[in-house]
Amino acid sequence: MGACRFHIVVAILSLVFLLPGIHGWGADGHHTICKIAQSRLSEAAADAVKELLPAFAENDLASVCSWADQVRFHYHWSAPLHFINTPGVCNFDYNRDCKDEDGVKGRCVAAAINNYTTELLTYKQDSSKSDYNLTESLLFLSHFMGDIHQPLHCGYAADRGGNDIEIHWYTRKQNLHHVWDVNIIETAEERFYDSNVDEFADSIQKNITTGWADLVPKWETCSSNQITCPDVYASESIKAACDWSYKGVTEGSTLEDDYFLSRLPIVKLRLAQGGVRLAATLNRIFS
Ligand SMILES: *[C@@H]1O[C@H](CO)[C@@H](O)[C@H](O)[C@H]1NC(C)=O
Ligand SMILES: *[C@@H]1O[C@H](CO)[C@@H](O)[C@H](O)[C@H]1NC(C)=O
Ligand SMILES: *[C@@H]1O[C@H](CO)[C@@H](O)[C@H](O)[C@H]1NC(C)=O
Ligand SMILES: [Zn+2]
Repeated sequence: MGACRFHIVVAILSLVFLLPGIHGWGADGHHTICKIAQSRLSEAAADAVKELLPAFAENDLASVCSWADQVRFHYHWSAPLHFINTPGVCNFDYNRDCKDEDGVKGRCVAAAINNYTTELLTYKQDSSKSDYNLTESLLFLSHFMGDIHQPLHCGYAADRGGNDIEIHWYTRKQNLHHVWDVNIIETAEERFYDSNVDEFADSIQKNITTGWADLVPKWETCSSNQITCPDVYASESIKAACDWSYKGVTEGSTLEDDYFLSRLPIVKLRLAQGGVRLAATLNRIFS
């Protein structure tokens, strides 16, 4: 086939693989979280991240923040690590809920955050002797810290975190999970931020140092000197899923301005918390 037809086929195939949203904020959500996080790193953490990032990332964590979504077909084992499902309740219980669809325990996003945090702690010993590929550990941790803050990544098992709830986003057919991964952010960018992800990220970043400044130390802190505390992040997410994502939505609902404008502040808050906590976790790991 001609080069042109080949490019079209490649374009269509990439679309097919990039589309479905059962695995996390869309690229813009992850980009925003990693951009916020990298701007808040200590000197030691910034140096470690720079050393661990692959060369093609050119020291830009945001540019590889969706890497874990791109490898999920190749690394099939990693698919359950992007989310948590609860049995239809608005709270998270690690022993009850952290398992994959076959019931294998410890296969969920909270476990993955602990796992990759523990792997990255070996960096300080002697990274050349580490048993792990710490580049991959960094990219997984950065991505999963985002996923766990997306409320519907800690949703109900019965509707697969909203994936099985068909609704209309304004005039377009969509599922509820995708609305939270992508559509709220995309609509906000189009309407308020010149369709520019960096303007969107900057507006959130500005608020971290102004409107939310008093709350940030609390976001950063984990109890009893833990390096990271994914159970807290997951508990907040399922609560937000109940209070905001699922609330007032039924199969066939049409979601438009009322829903968009009241939920956008929640999306911004979760992106801010994801970025702040990724930085705090990396700062503790590499301190
Ligand atoms: C922990 O990381 C290793 C290495 O990437 C991986 O094989 C394993 O599945 C991970 N487990 C969890 C729960 O993240
Ligand atoms: C570590 O993982 C990255 C990303 O998958 C890969 O490009 C690199 O070659 C790996 N490094 C080693 C030493 O295997
Ligand atoms: C900034 O934070 C304040 C205080 O929480 C909040 O009322 C406001 O909506 C936030 N602005 C943005 C852009 O998220
Ligand atoms: Zn994901």
